[in-house]
Amino acid sequence: MSPTPIILDCDPGHDDAMAMILAAYNPNIELLGISTVSGNGIINKVTENALRVCALAKINVPVAQGAGASLLGAVEAASDIHGETALDGAPLPAPTFELQKMHGVDLIADLVRKCPEKVTLVATGPLTNIALFLKMYPELRERIAHIVFMGGSASRGNRTPYAEFNIWMDPEACDVVLKSGLPLTMIGLDVTHQALITKEIFAKLEALDTEVSRTLSGLMRFFAKTYNDVFEMPDPPLHDPLAVAVLIDSAVTKNRFVNVEVELNGTHTRGATVVDIYNRTGYKANVNVALELDFDRFWEMMLDAVDKAGR
Ligand code: BDR
Ligand code: CA
Repeated sequence: MSPTPIILDCDPGHDDAMAMILAAYNPNIELLGISTVSGNGIINKVTENALRVCALAKINVPVAQGAGASLLGAVEAASDIHGETALDGAPLPAPTFELQKMHGVDLIADLVRKCPEKVTLVATGPLTNIALFLKMYPELRERIAHIVFMGGSASRGNRTPYAEFNIWMDPEACDVVLKSGLPLTMIGLDVTHQALITKEIFAKLEALDTEVSRTLSGLMRFFAKTYNDVFEMPDPPLHDPLAVAVLIDSAVTKNRFVNVEVELNGTHTRGATVVDIYNRTGYKANVNVALELDFDRFWEMMLDAVDKAGR
């Protein structure tokens, strides 16, 4: 099987950092480049974090800074979860290369244009850059194989009672993606809350005993503490790498192909994804929604990537 070419659009972010490592170190993925988007922190911080994670894990792909606010201009941060730097918990090395001198959306377009195969876009932050790309480069739409996004939920939210953070940050961007007509996979909280960093997983991570694994352990222990403080979850969920994992091995999740809409106007539910599991609306299915995780299969590939990144 030839590797799947992807572009990772992210807002590192603890779990985004792990998604970067999985994308860079699994042989079934060809990571073409990374664009950043404001989400877990303001855009300068998450971009700096992306470059520092590249330095830590020796990831050498073009990185460009993308949108600094949602389509409607909102800027928020998830410092209650990811800390002041958006990646608190362990010191990270200084960047070893410079950012591309172009906007993240233009980098996506450039990489898509140059790739001989269709490209999959993997989004692990708010969908702002992806929506801008679809609107600004309609001629490249047919060059996109698939969009996989971490965001949303078929049940409850985490930023508000019904809205998940990435979608809540930019519901209008999510709406553009949902209406794109492209093949879509949604990695929502239903499945990411099964990807827990349990005590056994921490032990396996720490047993790798490399600079990379030690740094990631420090980061994940910070993340575990904030998750416990905010959500009373003793083992934190590693959301973002699942959006890469489903491209490596589709059997890692069980999915339902259903209609998904995003709430743009709800009084208390703006940013909630409305996932019609039983087709009660009769609306056309548009999203493959991941609902169940093969925990062992996922962690095997994630830890293997961390191991390779540390060598
Ligand atoms: C999502 O929000 C961010 O805090 C995480 O990086 C993840 O992408 C989970 O709701
Ligand atoms: Ca993220």
